[in-house]
Amino acid sequence: MMSASLATVSYIGAIILFILSLGGLSNPESSRRGNLYGMIGMAIAVLATVFGPRVTAAGLPWILAAMVAGGSIGLYAARKVQMTQMPELVALMHSMVGLAAMLVGFANYIDPMAALNLSGAEKAIHEVEVYLGVLIGAVTLAGSLIAFGKLSGKIGGKPLLLPGRHYLNLAGLLVVIAFGWQFMHAETVNSGMTALTVMTVISLLFGIHMVMAIGGADMPVVVSMLNSYSGWAAAATGFMLNNDLLIVVGALVGSSGAILSYIMCRAMNRNFISVIAGGFGGGKPAKKAEGEAQPAGEVVSISALETAELLKDAKSVIIVPGYGMAVAQAQHTVNEISNLLREKGVNVRFGIHPVAGRMPGHMNVLLAEARVPYDIVMEMDELNGDFPDTDVAIVIGANDIVNPAAQDDPTCPIAGMPVLEVWKARTSIVMKRSMASGYAGVDNPLFYKENNRMLFGDAKKMLEEVLSALKA
Ligand code: TAP
Repeated sequence: MMSASLATVSYIGAIILFILSLGGLSNPESSRRGNLYGMIGMAIAVLATVFGPRVTAAGLPWILAAMVAGGSIGLYAARKVQMTQMPELVALMHSMVGLAAMLVGFANYIDPMAALNLSGAEKAIHEVEVYLGVLIGAVTLAGSLIAFGKLSGKIGGKPLLLPGRHYLNLAGLLVVIAFGWQFMHAETVNSGMTALTVMTVISLLFGIHMVMAIGGADMPVVVSMLNSYSGWAAAATGFMLNNDLLIVVGALVGSSGAILSYIMCRAMNRNFISVIAGGFGGGKPAKKAEGEAQPAGEVVSISALETAELLKDAKSVIIVPGYGMAVAQAQHTVNEISNLLREKGVNVRFGIHPVAGRMPGHMNVLLAEARVPYDIVMEMDELNGDFPDTDVAIVIGANDIVNPAAQDDPTCPIAGMPVLEVWKARTSIVMKRSMASGYAGVDNPLFYKENNRMLFGDAKKMLEEVLSALKA
């Protein structure tokens, strides 16, 4: 067993590694190192806790058994998950943090040891910790489960807008405050438990309602917001368990998630408060669910061979990847095409939209995996002005992020969201399998533009055909 001072030193080491990890993750080039720091930090944190002074010899076998069970489930999930299912997995993991905070809160409240010797201000602080911890945990749990359903397509992307929803939320908040007062003044554990249980049910309902009210296109903000909530839930657990490491790590995750939510909101030109209040992304009912889009004009299709011809004649090419590239796992073929064109002296760049795919940095991860050089992977703002001087813009399985309706149609659910202006290139080529709409369920006028061509088919298969035509 570790001494208390060694455990504290280990905790400080782990905290430093977590901070270095966050710093590393802010840049693709240093992200591997960032991940490594995070893993070492977590290993130290777990070892210092399990073998630390607060775990008794009798409790150790239980903890080790739980670690083996949890570790096996985690390992199995990580090995089995497809890259396209990552966002759902992350949402599910956030829900676990919420569940843990909730359970720790209840356990802490009924544990006679935890409340023993507490009186006056200390007792009040302990109760506030429990009440808030359970509240944040329950909202995180329910919200993340609904986000999981929405991201995996088990629940529709259309916002559920109950009549008087803001009043419902307000009423919920007032009830939670009232029961909070009752909880703090409860004479017995039993009456305290009633207040805690009522608040938990309301928080769970609020979590469900909050995420159900959010439209498909605003899901990125919710994902990062729940990420932030899971951090605060962990911090609350840290307060309840008197664990400094958990408090600091929870605060790190909570604040970095909040910053990410802010960045996402800015990227989508949304007001943070309005997104949370719900109802965004539903300006006009999402008229066409994926797979049901009706043609709204003439589209001109193009073959892989003709695409290769256009690329051969081009001097500058911008590639815009989206969710479909992840589905098709086409990143390696894209990289080969880009290398071939670059060898021929073509200026090839990748344009990354902040919400492309289904999780923050989704496209960057895929392109890094395929070893696309970082210096040709640009953010939307860096190259949006360059499309008029671009010969060919290739859109690979992207839809919402290149939809001109976001600029032209103020009534559309993604109105105001900045998009990559591929239609300004001399020719734009959209690779997708059908005329189906994207995640937000909005028809895309880009497909009908005069200088746009559609290359229908699975992105990987079509790109392989383009590659062999380029090589021929
Ligand atoms: P989407 O708008 O979802 O469009 C992806 C397109 O890829 C679909 O229209 C689909 O058309 C096509 N596709 C699917 N599989 C394909 C395949 N095997 N080969 C070729 N094409 C394929 O994606 P996007 O443009 O990347 O935009 C992202 C959307 O997701 C935004 O609305 C964003 O708000 C939302 N969202 C983002 C996040 C984050 S954090 N990034 C999280 C949640 C939601 P076909 O079916 O016709 O092939």
